[in-house]
Amino acid sequence: MRPSPFIFLLLSLVFSHNIFHQPSVFVNGDMKLIQETCKNTKYYDLCVSSLKPNASSTKADTKGLALIMVGVGMANATATSSYLSSQLLSATPNDPVLKKVLRECADKYGYAADALQDSVQDLATDSYDYAYMHVMGASDYPNACRNAFKRYPGLAYPSELARREDGLKHICDVVLGMIDHLSW
Ligand SMILES: *[C@@H]1O[C@H](CO)[C@@H](O)[C@H](O)[C@H]1NC(C)=O
Ligand SMILES: *[C@@H]1O[C@H](CO)[C@@H](O)[C@H](O)[C@H]1NC(C)=O
Repeated sequence: MRPSPFIFLLLSLVFSHNIFHQPSVFVNGDMKLIQETCKNTKYYDLCVSSLKPNASSTKADTKGLALIMVGVGMANATATSSYLSSQLLSATPNDPVLKKVLRECADKYGYAADALQDSVQDLATDSYDYAYMHVMGASDYPNACRNAFKRYPGLAYPSELARREDGLKHICDVVLGMIDHLSW
C-alpha cells in the first residue's frame, strides 16, 4: 500500500518540528544550568544578566560559569581603576590630598582585579578554599579605598564611587556563592 500524501505531510511536520525545536531545547537546557547556578547566589538577576551575554555561558559547566563571572568582576574592577586614574589626571594640581587618595584608590581597584585573576588559577586547580579567599580579598579592596577618603574629613566619598563599590562587591558575592556550591 502506498503511503497517502496525508502521511507524508504528517511526517514532514513531525520532522520539521524536531528540526526547529532541537536548538531551543538545547538552549533551554543550558539556560537551566545558568538559572540553577544563579539561584545559589545572593544576586540572581545580576548573575543571570552577567552570564547571558557571554556566548560561552551556554556551553559552560558550573565551574565554567564561575570563571565567566570572575571575568566580569575583573573587567569591572579594571574599569573602576581606569576611571580613578582618569579622575586623577583631571584633578586640580593644588589638591594634593585628593590626588593622593585617588591614586591609592586606583591601586586598590587594580589589586582587586589581580586578586580575581589569582582566583582563576585556583579554580583551574580546584583549590576552592584559595579561590574563595582571593575573591573575598577582591571584595575587600574597595573598603580600603573608602577608608582612604574617610581619613580626610574634607573629602566626600563620591556617589559614583559608592555605586561602583557596590557593583564590584555584588559581583564578588555572586562568585562566592558559586564557589560555595562548587566546593561541596
Ligand atoms: C567569556 O568568558 C570567557 C571565560 O571567562 C572569557 O575568556 C571571555 O573573554 C568572555 N567573553 C566575553 C565576550 O566577555
Ligand atoms: C561595573 O562597572 C561599571 C563601570 O564601568 C558600572 O557601571 C557597572 O554598574 C558595574 N557592574 C555592576 C554589575 O555593578
